Amino acid sequence: MKVAVLGYGTVGAGVYRMLLNAPGMEAGPVLVRPGKAVESFMVSDAALIFGDPTVDAVVETLGGLDPAYSCGLRALEAGKHFITANKAMVAAHGLELAALAREKGTAFLFSAACGGGVPFLHNLALSAETDRIEAVSGILNGTTNYMLDAMQRRALSYADALREAQSLGYAEADPTADVSGLDALRKIQLACAVAFGILPHDGMLCEGIEHFTAADTADIRSRGLVCRLIASGRRTENAVSAYVEPVLFPRAAAESSVFVNNNMARYMGRRCGSIVLMGQGAGRFPTASAVLRDLAAARQGARAMFPENCRSAEADNREAVHSYYIRTGGSAARRLPLRSVLAQGDVVRAVTEPMSAGKMHALAQNIRRDGNDLFFAALEEEIC
Ligand code: HSE
Repeated sequence: MKVAVLGYGTVGAGVYRMLLNAPGMEAGPVLVRPGKAVESFMVSDAALIFGDPTVDAVVETLGGLDPAYSCGLRALEAGKHFITANKAMVAAHGLELAALAREKGTAFLFSAACGGGVPFLHNLALSAETDRIEAVSGILNGTTNYMLDAMQRRALSYADALREAQSLGYAEADPTADVSGLDALRKIQLACAVAFGILPHDGMLCEGIEHFTAADTADIRSRGLVCRLIASGRRTENAVSAYVEPVLFPRAAAESSVFVNNNMARYMGRRCGSIVLMGQGAGRFPTASAVLRDLAAARQGARAMFPENCRSAEADNREAVHSYYIRTGGSAARRLPLRSVLAQGDVVRAVTEPMSAGKMHALAQNIRRDGNDLFFAALEEEIC
């Protein structure tokens, strides 16, 4: 199988290097920007890839929506397998690309778009063929897990933890998507589509780690808790829930032992029960290895990750109910339905009554809009 690569950044260069030693595969041309084709294997004219009948598969590592999307269309139209690591593009255009791939009989696979090196979507797609998947969730962003871990185990500041994650190549070009939770949200959108045949759009909830501070670290540690950023999706009556928010776990929970840039992905099937996969969620070779696995799967006949008739629908988060740990100013705290106050003064730390994720996210938005700082995290277990 001759494989062309679009882009030669962190992931693209990793894929190219792995292709050089991959049995049954041949490294084809690599598309780079005009003026950047400094090696003999690089080209700047996309027609040399899409018009080359000897190229069997195209790997897209450009990032962003376009030209990644138009390249997907061109590759599939030309009858080539299309493998991508681009979660934003698959979340936006994946259903259309999947339909085109089905029509052409070619593969459209995107394991590397969710979980980095963890073979999450690959196994989820296999399980979903023969089992009814009820829920998907996990730590799906390597950057924020690296930061949370560095803040909680090594007492780094938020800014230093982010700098380290960026220098290690885990963060997106603009890390806002990582720290705001958007990156993890896109990944859970893809997982929902693979698991349930429903790609959620609109109505999703997204809270990142931007409001987590060193003082929060100290307080939750004193209570024996560990903070992780969790993405969740579940079947509901007519649609799916899909949201991202920080969650506090007891120190003994499995999530508390997911360190550095590791991801932990879970799915729950009616027959297979709870399946947990863990490994590096970001970085050059973990991500490139997921791309190579997709190529190997395509070579063995795999064609699709989305089930047939996969559709999009608005997310419904009404059944996602938790108590929340909150930290905010005294007057802002009075606007929340508190069950118990843990610490009182200029800063209040408290636990709320159980409420829907939608209600908590909306209250947080209103409180912040009025100029108050607020950190909140769902509680996995009652702490008081
Ligand atoms: N920025 C992403 C992360 C890269 O940190 O998880 C892998 O998707």
